[in-house]
Parts: sequence; C-alpha cells; structure tokens
Amino acid sequence: MQSQPEIRGVATELLASKGLRLISCNSVQTLWAGYGHICQIKACSNNTGVSQSLMFKYVSPPSSKSNKNVRSLDEGHIRKIFSYQVEQYFYTYLAPQMPNKIAVASCLASVNTTAKGANTIGMVMNDLRDSFPVAGEKRAELNETQVHAALKWLAGFHGFWWSRADEVRRAARVRPPLEHFKQHKSTELGPQAGIWLKGGYTYLATRRKEYDGLKMDEDSEWSSAFCEPGGSGETSVAELAAGFLCSSAVREYQTLIHGDVKSENLFTTIKGDAVAFFDFQYVGLGLGVCDLAKLFTCSVPLRMLVDDDEAIPTASTLEMQQGEETLLRKYHDQLQRTSGKRYGWSLFLTHWETALVDWLRFQASWGFWGNTEWLEARVRSILDDAQWLAWIKSAYEASERDWRN
Ligand SMILES: Nc1ncnc2c1ncn2[C@@H]1O[C@H](COP(=O)(O)OP(=O)(O)O)[C@@H](O)[C@H]1O
Ligand SMILES: [Mg+2]
Repeated sequence: MQSQPEIRGVATELLASKGLRLISCNSVQTLWAGYGHICQIKACSNNTGVSQSLMFKYVSPPSSKSNKNVRSLDEGHIRKIFSYQVEQYFYTYLAPQMPNKIAVASCLASVNTTAKGANTIGMVMNDLRDSFPVAGEKRAELNETQVHAALKWLAGFHGFWWSRADEVRRAARVRPPLEHFKQHKSTELGPQAGIWLKGGYTYLATRRKEYDGLKMDEDSEWSSAFCEPGGSGETSVAELAAGFLCSSAVREYQTLIHGDVKSENLFTTIKGDAVAFFDFQYVGLGLGVCDLAKLFTCSVPLRMLVDDDEAIPTASTLEMQQGEETLLRKYHDQLQRTSGKRYGWSLFLTHWETALVDWLRFQASWGFWGNTEWLEARVRSILDDAQWLAWIKSAYEASERDWRN
C-alpha cells in the first residue's frame, strides 16, 4: 500500500515541472486491489499565485519480482499493471492531438518509472467536473440526451482516430497480457509502452479460462451455441467471431477504441448534451462497434432499443428494431463525416452483429449485467441467420488463408 508522503512526493515533483506548488492532496478513491489512488489536488502557480484544483491518478502496484511465485502468471494482475501504463501513454502522446470538441482530460504532467523493481505511474489531470459536473453512475442507465451525447463522443473519437489509423497502428504495441509477459518476463512496458494491440479487456485471447468454464457449463444455452465446433473444421462460433474481429479482414475499419465504455466512465454537462469519457486503461486498436456493444448493453435504456420494452420473452429471438437502428445510423453517419471515410452500411451491420456475439460470449462466461434479455435475443437471431453464419465462416477462412500466405 502506498503512503501519503510517497504520493505527495511524486505529485510535488510532477507539479514542479510545470511551475506549480502542491498545497493539498487528498485521496478520494482507491484503485483496483489497492494498486493506487485517485487524489484531488490543490496546486498554486509559482508565478501568479493563482490556485487550481486538479486530479492525480497514482499507481504503484506490487512488483512482479516481489510476488514472483504468486503473481507471475496472474493474468488479471498483469492486465491491470499494463493497463495503467497504456493509459499514461494515451494521455501523454495521443490525447494531446485530439480536438477540443472530443472532450478528454488534459494531462499536465505524467510519469512512468521503475526503481528497484517497483513500477510507479502518476498522471496529473485537469478536473473534468469543472465543465462536466454530472457523474454517470455505476451500472446505471444514461438518459436519452446523455445516450446521444455519448454516441456523438464515440463517433467523434473513433472517426478522428480512424483517419489516423496508421499512427494508431504504430502505437498499438502491447500484446495480450500473458503473451507479452511470457516473452519479456516483465511487467514493465517502459516509457514508450504504447497502447493495446487489441483494445478492450474482454477479447477471447485474454479470456480463455472463462471460455473453458463456459464450455463445461451444462446449464448455459450459450455453452453449446458458442463453444461447440460449428461445421468449419474445429472452429466454434466464439472463435470465429473473435478471430474475425482481429483479422486482416477488418484492418481497413480499425480505429482507436476506448475499450471500457460505460456510464461510470463518463461525466456529462448538467443538460446532458455533452460528455467526456475517462479511464483509458483499455484503449487500443479495434472496431468502433465493439465499444457500442458494451454501451448498448450496459448503459442505454431498453426503451431506446426496442419498440415495446415490456419484458422480452425468455429464449426469444429479436431482429434489429427501429430504436437500435436509429442510434446506429446516427453513429454511422457521424463516424463517416468525422473520418472522411466510407463504411458501407451492410458491412457495418455485420460488424455490429459480430461485436454483439463476441460481447455476449464474454458476459455468458463472466457474468451478465445490463440489457441481458435484449442482448441474448439479438444474438439468438444472429446465430439463427444462415447468411450471417456462412459469411462469418468464409470471412474467417479467408483471413486464415491470408495469414498463412
Ligand atoms: N480527470 C478526472 N476528473 C475528475 N474525476 C476523475 C478524473 N479521472 C478520474 N476521476 C475520478 O476517479 C474515478 C476513478 O478513475 P478511473 O480512471 O475510472 O479508474 P478506475 O475505474 O480504475 O477506478 C472516476 O470514477 C472519477 O470519479
Ligand atoms: Mg473507471
């Protein structure tokens, strides 16, 4: 556990590099497994004497060296340690390039160092609540205005980075946690860490244990639906969808995705007509629809997705309804406008459906929350669709051939 003097020491040094002096530093929240703190800081300018309120995200996880036996292959621990370094890279190198209308915190100063095997990450950021005072709450729905604002932010973010996809690709250097760790035998990514080669924290390559659990789960309808080999050699639907989403077939459409889009990772204006996202620990290369799959399931009110938001019958199927389509069209239009690129609507929809399948695979293996009945019914209808199945198989096989050649 980090001590107050230790946290204040790092904050003081970072502020000094910007001509600021620390007045106070109070922890407002501890981070996952006690790996760090979010602190509210008061600082004063050495030149003008004007004081300001800032946020300080400070992370100092137990080093893998001191915990070698227990921790060295703990996927969750390694994922977290990498994630803070990814976030520091994002705020330091990528966020400053973004236009003001895609609101993110600006990072005044940051550090990512290792001394005696212990990694320290610190980020001094402006307090987003100055302009976005309303917090999206934990596992809560957004209201309609906030949903539109969140979609607009996402289309702007995805569109901006889609037009700079080469730069995103150069920065996307951090491979799945265990793979990276096994090769480098270290949880330090170094100052040039980069962002995740695949954004998000739910993709199949990092969730094999959960997937094996689902395979054995005789009570879940998704066990056979996702995990049984599906006519294409030994490849299950879950593997087809996950494989497709990171294959060369989607390269042209890949952008930077946030990776953890939910109400508790955003603030909004009082009116709810603009949002700012934070928590960029899982930012990386991916399809924008993967961010949308989580948002629609976890933070969009059901009545915005379906015509009749009475309970969706168990085991039913559900085609895309007007509400879902309206939201997707709005996002799709703005994505194309911001990026200046074209994304055919029907291709976009097949990518969307594949993202829903992949997201449900994670929830079915990890635990459900949000619009579960909607998600399950939508995925039943996608898996019932012979055209979708034929398409995903051939797309997957084509990308496998590509990869072998
Ligand atoms: N720039 C910021 N301005 C204001 N509050 C922030 C800022 N960054 C983080 N926070 C607060 O700190 C909390 C935790 O930060 P977050 O980056 O989401 O870490 P984690 O989800 O790992 O706990 C957020 O829910 C938010 O309340
Ligand atoms: Mg968070």
